[in-house]
Amino acid sequence: MMRMGSEYAVGGRTQTASVEYHEPRPISGAPTMPRLHVNIDHIATLRQARRETIPDPVAWGLHCLKAGAHGLTLHLRKDRRHIQDADVTRLLKATDALVNLECSLDPEMMEIALKSGAGAFCLVPENRSEITTEGGLDVIAERARLLEAVPALTERGGLVSLFVDPDIDQLDGAREVGAPFVELHTGSYANASGGEREAELERLLRATEHATSIGLRVNAGHGLDHGNVSPVAALPHMEELNIGFALVARAVTHGLEESITSMLHLMDAAGSS
Ligand code: PXP
Repeated sequence: MMRMGSEYAVGGRTQTASVEYHEPRPISGAPTMPRLHVNIDHIATLRQARRETIPDPVAWGLHCLKAGAHGLTLHLRKDRRHIQDADVTRLLKATDALVNLECSLDPEMMEIALKSGAGAFCLVPENRSEITTEGGLDVIAERARLLEAVPALTERGGLVSLFVDPDIDQLDGAREVGAPFVELHTGSYANASGGEREAELERLLRATEHATSIGLRVNAGHGLDHGNVSPVAALPHMEELNIGFALVARAVTHGLEESITSMLHLMDAAGSS
């Protein structure tokens, strides 16, 4: 590991900006290591801030795959605030890696998802005023729409997951509508600290155990970063982590390759422990 530091002043106090670079090293590839899916929406957010053509989220995604990421995730929102329809088409043409399309149950989004040819779909709730997806899908309230959406997407050959809070009744609901996967919302874990974070981790563990006991496969994501990923990556039966913002944020200061490879190493170490 190489360290670089520089001093700067904030509000009369001197701070040190310290940057740690992880040297590339082989990944053990333990079978228990979850796969890393990079969420590319945040690059599209930057592009849309100027309504520009750069930075290109598709190119970013391909670089992430080259750096070792296992798959890519993108969320086509109804308000098209970041990912655009053409991004979905371009990405699916550009790679054979697993592309996970996140979308809401809105009829327009479902029509696009069904025609897209994506290999995986994650169904999420969507509120217009939210900055990012705030809570899990209420699988119980959405039961009727899910009973149509899950088999329709599965028939198109997609792996369907439901983005849910780590609550037992939501997991039971996901099973009842026939979803093979859930993606556990890790936002409450990521936002908590100290004892509260321990409790949220325990909640994720109980959810993972319950999900696998009723035949669900388990992914997770939201708010994960290089500092908090390890305990989640170490959860038994965790198959895939979807991470976006932290990877982009770290790439700004450390470079894309370091951001991806250091995350992979953390997940690898946690998965093999
Ligand atoms: N999973 C889902 C369902 C999401 O909506 C998001 C946010 O776009 C993520 C994972 C990734 O979250 P983050 O950008 O905080 O890593």
